[in-house]
Amino acid sequence: MIRPFGRAWKELTVILRPTTGYLIAPSILAADFLHLGDQIAVCEQSGADWIHVDVMDGHFVPNLTMGAMAVEACRRATRLPIDVHLMIENPERHLEAFANAGASILTAHVEACSDPLRTLNGIKALGCKAGVTLNPETPVRAIEPFLSLVDLVLIMSVHPGYAGQQFLPEALVRITETNRMLNELDSSADLEVDGGISAATLPAAREAGANVFVAAQAIFKHPEGIRAGIRALRELLPAD
Ligand code: DX5
Ligand code: ZN
Repeated sequence: MIRPFGRAWKELTVILRPTTGYLIAPSILAADFLHLGDQIAVCEQSGADWIHVDVMDGHFVPNLTMGAMAVEACRRATRLPIDVHLMIENPERHLEAFANAGASILTAHVEACSDPLRTLNGIKALGCKAGVTLNPETPVRAIEPFLSLVDLVLIMSVHPGYAGQQFLPEALVRITETNRMLNELDSSADLEVDGGISAATLPAAREAGANVFVAAQAIFKHPEGIRAGIRALRELLPAD
């Protein structure tokens, strides 16, 4: 995708950004696991772009969620890219299992890797897209050395661990800063935002430069259902 440039960008957003560059990635963390396959199918039919899978190990984050088996089940439920967010210590130990399970994108936390460069290169060697992310309290300069290598940068707008938290407004400055660094590198990496994304918070994240929007609660717990949840976010993005 083409990234926005400086102050002139605001007037030129629609021209500079390909419309297909704005993506919605429902996070199954808030799905009904008894009906996961059906709910993923509804996401796909409702125009979701990716399926986001939150992997948590009870160490890197307090919560414990799902692993490669869940990714393998999702892979059988959809043709959409599966965007795997690894909130686990030493993710390099599990990359092959997630790649074999059908992950399309593997995103590792810079704090969780002893050698992030090796982890990111390992992801690419497995044929997946490589993403890097960081916790809200980690300075964005921690990911700067890897920006020219990655396919995706994920800015967390909550402390990782749970769905349904409040969007942290300080994420906006971090998205802007990351977007600037990606522009300087002439990078085509996606800039994803994750945590507290709703119809109320998505516009500011988009203005700051994000193009991929993860949402769990706003989609799976929307009072009118998944389709309405996706529609409410989609209508805030430029039309195709
Ligand atoms: C949080 C996860 C998020 C979470 C988002 O650690 O990485 O993907 O599922 O949930 P919402 O959209 O409800 O904040
Ligand atoms: Zn996530």
